[in-house]
Amino acid sequence: MKLKRSLKQNKAKQTRLKHSAALHEETKDFCVLASLIPSLQRGIMLQNKANPTISKSTGLPRKRFYRARAHSNPLSDSHFPVPLSPSHVDYSLHYPQLFPSSDCSDGSKKIEFADIGCGFGGLLISLSTLFPETLMIGMELRDKVTKYVKERILGLRLANPGQFQNVSVVRTNSMKYFPNYFEKGQLSKMFFLFPDPHFKEKNHRRRVISPHLLDEYAYVLKVGGIIYTITDVEELGEWMKSCLQNHPMFEPLSEMELDGDPVVKLLSTATEEGKKVARNGGQTFQAVYRRITLASQENS
Ligand SMILES: C[S@@+](CC[C@H](N)C(=O)[O-])C[C@H]1O[C@@H](n2cnc3c(N)ncnc32)[C@H](O)[C@@H]1O
Repeated sequence: MKLKRSLKQNKAKQTRLKHSAALHEETKDFCVLASLIPSLQRGIMLQNKANPTISKSTGLPRKRFYRARAHSNPLSDSHFPVPLSPSHVDYSLHYPQLFPSSDCSDGSKKIEFADIGCGFGGLLISLSTLFPETLMIGMELRDKVTKYVKERILGLRLANPGQFQNVSVVRTNSMKYFPNYFEKGQLSKMFFLFPDPHFKEKNHRRRVISPHLLDEYAYVLKVGGIIYTITDVEELGEWMKSCLQNHPMFEPLSEMELDGDPVVKLLSTATEEGKKVARNGGQTFQAVYRRITLASQENS
């Protein structure tokens, strides 16, 4: 019995070590590149000539080299590293200028915005300059697309010293590992822009908005925090709205609040998917809800 327990503990320890080693590997390239910024700046012209994936004129990655399958299965097990808990997220790997080393975070500044299924990162880039003091992160399942966003951010940092230091991206399955990144009441904004529709009824469980997942989102959002959703698929728009409407911890923003929120305007204009829909003259359906306290909690 004792031997069995010790074997089990040993195995758990090994898994933890494996995860943290893998996490290091995953973010290493991002971190190493970031620390080499001055020399990269000097060699950027040279590099761009040699590296066709980066545009010579802008220093930014060229999208055609990062094409990926349109959809990934969010229920399948992909192999990427996952932090054990929100306190294991190494901010120095994501925001090196703001957190020069992994032990310099006193926990007072945390990620506040999360773009779930950020795709090619258009929203994050717009938000980064609109809210320069706020830390934000995109979560993206597809490997190549995540790489594109990483390089886009690095390119923008190089071209605009001091800017875009508050934005990052991580490859992960938000449906599974979201709670590993954020603690209770940490976030003030969450974005679900043009999520995959998963039309068939048997696949509705793959949708990133569901009654069950809203419980998790309510947990990580602070009271007053906002969930922004938009889609060009009417049925999905109705689904997301009804999930939010039926959840006891969310209420819709009023028309006046929507008009006064600069972020709402970005929902249909800032992302690559939104631009595509606009180009094709497509209709969009948005639902924007605020995290509230339960009446029972207010009275207690
Ligand atoms: C249709 S795209 C929209 C991308 C972006 N929001 C936009 O508006 O351009 C949906 C994105 O969500 C990502 N995605 C789907 N399920 C996910 C999950 N469980 N975790 C993280 N990303 C996911 C997909 O890989 C895809 O890039």
